[in-house]
Amino acid sequence: MNNQAMESRMIFVTLLLSASIRVIAEDPYLFFEWKVTYGTIAPLGVPKQAILINGQFPGPKINCTSNNNIVVNVYNQLDEPLLLSWSGVQQRKNSWQDGTPGTMCPILPGQNYTYKFQVKDQIGSYFYFPTTGLQRAAGGIGMLQVHSRDLIPVPFDRPANEFAVILGDWYNKGHKTLKRILDSGRSIGKPDGIVINGKSGKFDDLAAEPLAVMESGKTYRYRICNAGLKNSINFRLQGHTLKLVELEGSHTVQNMYDSIDLHVGQCLSVLVTANQVPKDYYFVASSRFAKRPDVAIAVVHYANGNGPASPVLPAAPSENSAGIAWSMNQFRSFRWNLTASAARPNPQGSYHYGKIEITRTIKLTNTRSLVNGKLRFGINGVSHVDPETPLKLVEYFGLADKVFKYDIVKDEPSNGPAVVAPSVVNAVFRNFVEIIFENHEKTIQTWHLDGYSFFAVAIEPGRWSPDKRKLYNLQDAVSRHTIHVYPNSWAAVMTTLDNAGMWNLRSEMWERTYLGQQMYFSVLSPAKSLRDEYNIPESQQLCGIVKGFPKPTPYAGT
Ligand SMILES: *[C@@H]1O[C@H](CO)[C@@H](O)[C@H](O)[C@H]1NC(C)=O
Ligand SMILES: *[C@@H]1O[C@H](CO)[C@@H](O)[C@H](O)[C@H]1NC(C)=O
Ligand SMILES: *[C@@H]1O[C@H](CO)[C@@H](O)[C@H](O)[C@H]1NC(C)=O
Repeated sequence: MNNQAMESRMIFVTLLLSASIRVIAEDPYLFFEWKVTYGTIAPLGVPKQAILINGQFPGPKINCTSNNNIVVNVYNQLDEPLLLSWSGVQQRKNSWQDGTPGTMCPILPGQNYTYKFQVKDQIGSYFYFPTTGLQRAAGGIGMLQVHSRDLIPVPFDRPANEFAVILGDWYNKGHKTLKRILDSGRSIGKPDGIVINGKSGKFDDLAAEPLAVMESGKTYRYRICNAGLKNSINFRLQGHTLKLVELEGSHTVQNMYDSIDLHVGQCLSVLVTANQVPKDYYFVASSRFAKRPDVAIAVVHYANGNGPASPVLPAAPSENSAGIAWSMNQFRSFRWNLTASAARPNPQGSYHYGKIEITRTIKLTNTRSLVNGKLRFGINGVSHVDPETPLKLVEYFGLADKVFKYDIVKDEPSNGPAVVAPSVVNAVFRNFVEIIFENHEKTIQTWHLDGYSFFAVAIEPGRWSPDKRKLYNLQDAVSRHTIHVYPNSWAAVMTTLDNAGMWNLRSEMWERTYLGQQMYFSVLSPAKSLRDEYNIPESQQLCGIVKGFPKPTPYAGT
């Protein structure tokens, strides 16, 4: 019996068990209480108002196992509205709590809200962050890691320990100032530096605060996310190689790398074996495709190690066009390990994605324009704005025609003038779609889709045309939830739209997101059944034009 057959059999047995013994079917709950406050930090030597969770930046780690129920009671002690999103966690049937302004009313200052979601059939590394305004520039970010259940084999030995590493570019200006700049129609410009878990290594007592402590001979898992606003980041560990084992929730073919490019919004796991002379080593993160790259360092310490890290930092891969070719090749080397058992969020059999007939091709181009003299970004010429009432609620209460028009974004880019409006694309439940991202700009792009993972089948230079499908990886593309697109290049992803809800498709580069480079997919299940979508949570706040509305009759079914 191969692994997949074994896995299906295991699932079958589990189903039988859970059908007969209901008690066992209830997956464990993990409870968190988070106080979100301001605090001051100065990773680049300039004090800045940061957003802390329980006093920390990065915020507390959520460490859980596939199918756990996560309950997070969030107290907003800021002076402005707050929403947290769980980037990449699929929120099956539950866009109600996806944490984007199009799905939920924000948590007002002084109030609290309890997120409840299940990490159903997922594994891997994710991060949470605030979606409101430019708060992501100030913090409110942390790691969410999902382990495989005990019965499911993991394609590598249990590491001796795990380290959470949140990378990101950093602006010395506060998030309110950054928002004011964007509101006035200007760009926020280049970041001031890079941080590794909230430190740059320039003003920190490096040896006293190591990023990780390893014992000689043991192997460790580093879960690394780029939660910044703009810059792609290359990371490397002096003297060590990195074995890639997981990328955005999928176990990969385990290739070795000297350094890896991690684009905004992406997370992965590498294994590092402590097989060097026991002393300190620098973990280095530097911005990619920038004229003068910013660099941050942190120390990885060997227990019983003796001696400081060498001041000679490992070099970054080259910049310019050779650097892009290098990076593109690295993307092509990322492959899904098809024989590794793991929770598979997509429906059974969808790993044969290469054989499924495409029912819709949606081609999206990032656009940049001036509207009334103000900078706006968009998708196919449409620059999204969030209406006061979340789109999901407006649609649920049957008021969509009062607030937005479906399908202003067409499946093909248009050349008309930029339109500023709420942008919702109607999608047919369970359609298998191909989305092409074409980038005509000189800067790299990264895209993320909430509620799904997709097969990232290609990133190639030039323009896309149907004959480029012959370049797709239809065998073992990684199932993930973000994709980057190099300058003057395209990328293709495929997915089954089987998760009913209102789902945000967005640039992960927050200046662009905030100024309109995002949209929503409305995926409605015609059945209105609990099989397809959960009911609106009882505690869901209603705001804007649906404030005070009675909740409609709950969906039927199980
Ligand atoms: C994280 O979760 C895993 C699996 O549930 C467990 O083995 C591990 O001890 C946990 N680690 C921490 C730091 O809680
Ligand atoms: C706010 O917190 C209290 C307990 O601290 C809890 O009982 C209540 O349900 C929370 N409110 C929401 C909307 O989650
Ligand atoms: C894929 O996973 C299998 C099963 O866990 C493992 O034995 C194998 O080494 C992995 N293959 C690669 C190429 O990483």
